[in-house]
Amino acid sequence: MLVNPVSRAAPAAVLLALMLGCAAEPAAPRLSHDRDLQPLWDAKCADCHMGTQAFGGLFLDPGHAYENLVGVPASQLPTMVRIRAGDPKRSYVWLKLKGTHLEAGGYGEPIPVVLTDLEEARILGWIEQGAPR
Ligand code: HEC
Repeated sequence: MLVNPVSRAAPAAVLLALMLGCAAEPAAPRLSHDRDLQPLWDAKCADCHMGTQAFGGLFLDPGHAYENLVGVPASQLPTMVRIRAGDPKRSYVWLKLKGTHLEAGGYGEPIPVVLTDLEEARILGWIEQGAPR
């Protein structure tokens, strides 16, 4: 049986490429935390994870979010980091978004905001691309 080596990473990359209207371009767009993810944290997470409010010990303020996410153990599951570059299934933020964090041994509610498919694909694609700054 033929195994396609890119099949594991493909869905998010393809979805993102399609949604950005560049289906003819096979390579996924390169994502950057500061340019592509910070605006999402600002829009969807600020009320509870910025300034004086940092539920779960998670600060997502501009200039601090990256250092609070990538390679940092989750408060709710210290054996797992919040974002593991290249590995969404071992990134607590991703599990908490998908609501599978309890199965992994975490606790609390799933992330209480509705993200669009494009926003989800952006987070997934960024993690898969190695979570670049
Ligand atoms: C309305 C408030 C609220 C919003 C908005 C919110 N969160 Fe949270 N978040 C919480 C609370 C409360 C906790 C701790 C309790 C829980 O997990 O149920 C938490 C915990 C977390 C944790 C666990 C941190 C750890 O290290 O264990 C992560 C990850 C997280 N939130 C990510 C996000 C992200 C990403 C967004 C935006 C997309 C977001 N949250 C938006 C309230 C919020």
